Amino acid sequence: MNTLFINDSHLSLDKFATLCAQTLRKDDFPLARSADKNVLIYHREDLLAAAATDRQSLLCELHQALSAGPGVFVVQDLYSDVSVIDRSNSVFEDILVSEAANGGGGDHFAKAGSNGRIWNALQKVAERDADVFIEYYSNPLLALICEAWVGPGYEMTAQVNQVRPGGKAQQPHRDYHLGFQLNEVVARFPLPLQILSQYLTLQGAVAHSDMPPESGPTQLLPWSQQYAEGYLAWRDPRFIEFFQQHAIQLPLKKGDGLFFNPALFHAAGNNTTQDHVRTANLLQVSSAFGKTMERVNHVKVMEAIYPCLLNKALSGEQLQALVAASGEGYSFPTNLDTDPPLNGLVPKTQQQLLLEALQQRCSAEEFIRQLANHENKRKA
Ligand SMILES: [Fe+2]
Repeated sequence: MNTLFINDSHLSLDKFATLCAQTLRKDDFPLARSADKNVLIYHREDLLAAAATDRQSLLCELHQALSAGPGVFVVQDLYSDVSVIDRSNSVFEDILVSEAANGGGGDHFAKAGSNGRIWNALQKVAERDADVFIEYYSNPLLALICEAWVGPGYEMTAQVNQVRPGGKAQQPHRDYHLGFQLNEVVARFPLPLQILSQYLTLQGAVAHSDMPPESGPTQLLPWSQQYAEGYLAWRDPRFIEFFQQHAIQLPLKKGDGLFFNPALFHAAGNNTTQDHVRTANLLQVSSAFGKTMERVNHVKVMEAIYPCLLNKALSGEQLQALVAASGEGYSFPTNLDTDPPLNGLVPKTQQQLLLEALQQRCSAEEFIRQLANHENKRKA
């Protein structure tokens, strides 16, 4: 049987159910504090302590958790100081109000009206409040988690999702890349490419409000990312029914992070509260080798934050995390005639340019000039 180009006839609910029936062994993941409903629960302090002593083991364990493991983990206290979350929320409110006044955007997987959505929240926050952006994205633990799944040179994007009281659950689905494509498009990708695509993105959600069970935290189906044929399966009624019977939910506290393999079957839950707005900042982190879902204007992000950054005293790790979230970290694609590699094999990245400008204490005007020059060289 052809197993490279697959269609609906290759789907097996039995195989899917067998994969999803695995039981998590906490001992396989020594850095986790606990396991709850087959989800690993980590704590900020343990992960930072592990990073200081054995960074490679930490990266390895987190990667394994998302591939050979259940495909999802929680990091408690990803933001231990929630004041930055509160300040972000005020910026989100301003953006939501101004976008609603201009007609608002659409949402996928959910009925319009019950959700609030901010697309490209990364750039919008940088342009509205550089201080908040710098504090939020200079989180070294966030950078470690990203690197564990997609390696260095990743590109961060962020979308805010607000589910208001009465907001209905999403349909179960997989995420970007192939989770956004129709089945007939998915089927044209050879199965190894379908499997590969999960390694190109990390899905994260930072809780910007407490998320008690009744507010509808994300429904998750641990191990479901391991089902190779899953990109063709999530719209199938048999798989939807299985999801509805077996999906689990975990409450989160404001400042906690949830990270999962984009191939994991998941869906936002029902918000059955009268008055609790559930807000998450969804982080979609792209491998340097992938195409992001959103086009972020990193030049604008860096221009917006640079003057503020000149006056900040960040640790080396905080600065690395921030720079990784602000500029492009990969040299390609570029124009090799006009942007040749100078030392080594690869031309300078936006991130290197930003770091050098900070080290040399360049003025904002000078940095903006260098950025424009860098952009021009890279054009075809
Ligand atoms: Fe999703």
